[in-house]
Amino acid sequence: MEFLLVNLKAKINQFSYPIKIGTNILHTLPKEISKFTKSKKVLLIIDKNLFNVYGKPLIKYFGKHNFKCSFLQITAGKKCKDIKNLLKIVNYLEKNKFSKDSTLVVLGGGTIGDLGGFAASVYYRGMNLVSIPTTLTAQIDSSIGGKVAVNFNNNVNAIGNYYHPKLILCDYKFIKTLPNRDFISGISEVIKSVLITSKKDTKFMSENYAKILKRDKQVILRMLKKIINIKINLVKRDERERNVRMFLNYGHTIGQAIESSLNLKSEHYRHGEAVALGMLCVAYMAERYFKVKDLYSNHVKIFKKYNLPLNIKKFSKSKNQMLNIIYKNIFKDKKKNHTGIRFVLLNGIGNPNVVSNFNESLIKESISRLIR
Ligand code: GLY
Repeated sequence: MEFLLVNLKAKINQFSYPIKIGTNILHTLPKEISKFTKSKKVLLIIDKNLFNVYGKPLIKYFGKHNFKCSFLQITAGKKCKDIKNLLKIVNYLEKNKFSKDSTLVVLGGGTIGDLGGFAASVYYRGMNLVSIPTTLTAQIDSSIGGKVAVNFNNNVNAIGNYYHPKLILCDYKFIKTLPNRDFISGISEVIKSVLITSKKDTKFMSENYAKILKRDKQVILRMLKKIINIKINLVKRDERERNVRMFLNYGHTIGQAIESSLNLKSEHYRHGEAVALGMLCVAYMAERYFKVKDLYSNHVKIFKKYNLPLNIKKFSKSKNQMLNIIYKNIFKDKKKNHTGIRFVLLNGIGNPNVVSNFNESLIKESISRLIR
């Protein structure tokens, strides 16, 4: 049974597009596409694993409406956002005579969305894009706001763009079937959003943790609506990340340094897990910088409810080695501007500030105390 529960509108500069949240809404895709283009030509860039489940039904939905749809299956993950896959997509579009009016649909997590979104943005300077984010992180964060990119020479998002889709469909069904570790990693980004926004929303996440962990449909849909609205509101005030959009990087400066601290083949941290650890570090720094109390312990309280990590693992390194790797990684951040490395610090929950020029010893102390 279909439930279209929420119909949001993202209005970002001259762009305006619907974000539809519900359950079992995939079959509405052909009709939704017909609202913005007459072209019945669609290419789906789809996570290989999801194609096995959703490929057949999607072929059926498009067939019913006389669409000509084809699929490019991509193995999702950090490595898929590369030039090789980008050229594979562009090559397919060109060889099969796709035009600007045709539609590229991305169906998968953040990496598939970034890769396919970037391809759509450069193909003849931009073709129609529809985003169907399938992870919690992608539904509440990466699919909204237009950031699309591929990695280059080991530099994350080195070739990128701002490009908005014509439509975003968020289906609860994907959240329901997400592996637990990915769900919890997404929850970390949800907590990030509420911590930078308000005590009220933070209380919502704290009070409803049992239902959220059980993935109760009604509560999850309320949560999605809340967090997506937070994202829309920040991006519409500052699409190009000159001021308030930076708040969404809360926990990310140190978190990303932790995430890439070991060059292991298998991911040792999910993005959200590393961001949670990054938030703990900056909460410690903020208590000293703003002389606020209980900020760190309030982070710990909510993280514990969702089983988010509270310590940085040493793996096979010594504590000092690990600290130095993470500290060095912080300064690899290419987004760093002339004022030096910037941190988002909370002067209390719901009161984010961007602060630069921190002294080395406090940054190191905030990391070192968590390493076990
Ligand atoms: N994920 C952070 C942003 O979209 O700005």
